[in-house]
Amino acid sequence: AAAAPGALAREVHSLSEYFNLLTRARRDAGPSSGSVPRPADGHARPPAEQLAPRDVFIAVKTTRKFHRARLDLLLETWISRHKEMTFIFTDGEDEALAKHTGNVVNTNCSAAHSRQALSCKMAVEYDRFIESGRKWFCHVDDDNYVNLRALLRLLASYLHTQDVYIGKPSLDRPIQATERVSENKVRPVHFWFATGGAGFCISRGLALKMSPWASGGHFMSTAERIRLPDDCTIGYIVEALLGVPLIRSGLFHSHLENLQQVPASELHEQVTLSYGMFENKRNAVHVKGPFSVEADPSRFRSIHCHLYPDTPWCPHTAIF
Ligand SMILES: *[C@@H]1O[C@H](CO)[C@@H](O)[C@H](O)[C@H]1NC(C)=O
Repeated sequence: AAAAPGALAREVHSLSEYFNLLTRARRDAGPSSGSVPRPADGHARPPAEQLAPRDVFIAVKTTRKFHRARLDLLLETWISRHKEMTFIFTDGEDEALAKHTGNVVNTNCSAAHSRQALSCKMAVEYDRFIESGRKWFCHVDDDNYVNLRALLRLLASYLHTQDVYIGKPSLDRPIQATERVSENKVRPVHFWFATGGAGFCISRGLALKMSPWASGGHFMSTAERIRLPDDCTIGYIVEALLGVPLIRSGLFHSHLENLQQVPASELHEQVTLSYGMFENKRNAVHVKGPFSVEADPSRFRSIHCHLYPDTPWCPHTAIF
């Protein structure tokens, strides 16, 4: 592992500080930081096992106030292709949503964007995945587009019985944290983690090994031990406690990277995409049509028509 230079060699005290850190690390790393070396990318790897959509459990983390603004777009686009793969984890009742899809889990977690509330949702996601008996757990946010074919291709290139933790690191070096080992004793710990905002996946084999620190109420207490957000806590359990290295993939994308750099010609290979704001500018994948940027600011509808031109609401005159 790389030695940690000054900027990160200190504790992250709050969620906002953590997000600032991620943004700064990206900026320092320059425009090419979005592209991670390719060896782990699915298209370069032969299939290791047959995988059906029902073998994968995709947890989408959202909050009640984003059901209309964000979730409806996902339901119309990628979720509609394989509803049986997707489970929505939220924090408030919504009859309209429940009518649309059966897989809605009200976590009863706080709607605050706090470290504790996020860990509370991740804890419920983990427990539901274990109960489901499925082969793969994937976590995404409500601003992610999931390319289901590319996801299945990537996961099928590994064995679900092996230890697999795959995603994109937010930082270009391990995060430094302080681990509380007893009432008045702490020690430094460093590990890689996959950014939750780009999505990540964990094999069932590995998820079962995480159980002592992740199941029941344990995820919350593990998160308290390092006082970092949910996605860091996953990295802490997998890398620091279990010694399993993160497999870095450049096929996962969050809104904290410049999405304009994702080549339109390689959309079919990307596993996740996103949209939002980055350095005070609108950030979205650059794809020409069939919808205008005004009609489709996230570009998710246009991306969906590129990937699934047979979708009834895609303009049939469009030629890709
Ligand atoms: C949330 O609360 C409701 C009502 O008490 C309950 O039915 C549901 O199982 C709870 N959800 C979770 C994930 O515990």
